[in-house]
Amino acid sequence: MTVLAAAPAYWVDGSVVADGAVALRPDDHGLVGDGAFEAIKIIDGRPFALTRHLRRLRHSAGALCITVDEDAIRAGIAALAGAEAVRAHNCWLRVTVTGGSSPMGTGCVGTHPTVVVAVAPMAPWGPTCDVAIVEWTRNETGATAGLKTISYAENVIALRAAHTRGADEAIFANTQGNLCEGTGSNVFLDVDGQLVTPPLSSGCLAGVTRELLLENCPGLIEAEIPSAALAGAKEAFLTSTSRDVHPVRTVDGRPLAAAPGPLTRQAMASFAGIVERTMDP
Ligand SMILES: Cc1ncc(COP(=O)(O)O)c(C=O)c1O
Repeated sequence: MTVLAAAPAYWVDGSVVADGAVALRPDDHGLVGDGAFEAIKIIDGRPFALTRHLRRLRHSAGALCITVDEDAIRAGIAALAGAEAVRAHNCWLRVTVTGGSSPMGTGCVGTHPTVVVAVAPMAPWGPTCDVAIVEWTRNETGATAGLKTISYAENVIALRAAHTRGADEAIFANTQGNLCEGTGSNVFLDVDGQLVTPPLSSGCLAGVTRELLLENCPGLIEAEIPSAALAGAKEAFLTSTSRDVHPVRTVDGRPLAAAPGPLTRQAMASFAGIVERTMDP
């Protein structure tokens, strides 16, 4: 995904800061990965599904003993999201909370969490995507399983490998060899005519888009699926805040029978209906 030529903007701990300004303290515990974040789509100057994103942020940050100051976050969003440049472009927000300024050492805890809100243009995805199943696994029993922490190095490595292989998303299996998720997306596929997505016990993130489909898509179920099933599926799709429902064209270079197939089309229509009905489903 390429970034459009419009300036990103930042809000850090109460103030809008200039692009390029030094706004984070060098002793911020976020530098050791102690933090959580959310990526939130902006539609016409307003954040989509903010209640669900804030709930997930509280969950992720809570596991790290970081208190989420929702008033501060809402103030940061209000300061950035309504700007004319943001309304004019397809943009998204990244809301990050970290452990804040703290002494050096893994066990140290900051006394005042840092809150950063960033807004940037979001280039639209193409009509389909290509995925590569990578050799690294998600640890579904790890301490950070299911948390959206800022420790995304695993995803950075896997996504780079996918790009090297000509794909635009990497898919992880978990330690059991079952399908888990992408680096920034959840995965859905046709299994014998039924639309299936891995359960949260697979180690995947409880994606907001995934959650909305589970609540609104008749016939969609959660089930453990061997990762090898993805390449053999008739159809599959990814979901995320930036992708919505995104049909998979190829898996490890091999085309699926349909992209989008009928189950994918149904999910796309279902999600479009949700967005049309409300900004905060
Ligand atoms: C690891 C991971 N899985 C899944 C998702 C999809 O979640 P959502 O639909 O909330 O964007 C994301 C994106 O935030 C992610 O980073």
